[in-house]
Amino acid sequence: ATNRTFTMIKPDAVQDNHIGGILSMIEAGSFRIVELQKVTLTAERAGQFYAVHAERPFYNDLVKYMSSGPIVAAILEKDNAVADFRTLIGATNPANAEDGTIRKKYAKSIEANAVHGSDSDENAQIEGDFFFGTK
Ligand code: CMP
Repeated sequence: ATNRTFTMIKPDAVQDNHIGGILSMIEAGSFRIVELQKVTLTAERAGQFYAVHAERPFYNDLVKYMSSGPIVAAILEKDNAVADFRTLIGATNPANAEDGTIRKKYAKSIEANAVHGSDSDENAQIEGDFFFGTK
């Protein structure tokens, strides 16, 4: 069925002029861009977004990184969107990302890994609402 996922282009990829390249890969993958917004998160907002990771050792660095510069948030629509988008972005650690994936091409490290993708339909809804409100 057609459904939605949520993505962010992370600060390193925005800083390195890869918004266009990444959106091109997303559109070439047959995702429709339903909502799109460039925004800079405060540390407080980034902390809220990643609250599920609050107990992880990388949380403080992640919050600092995700509030270090502008990001691009988007809601994407496609058949089987969550799973297909995770395939398109590749593994969290770019060292393990497959050829042809967004992270293989653009990620620099496990933290600065170019893009976020929701891990479930439920989180896609929550994360999309975090930026765009209920649609
Ligand atoms: P993302 O898919 O946005 O979800 C959580 C983020 O935390 C992840 O991408 C990475 O940016 C970061 N992350 C996950 N695991 C690690 C790790 N082991 N070390 C540092 N950052 C991590």
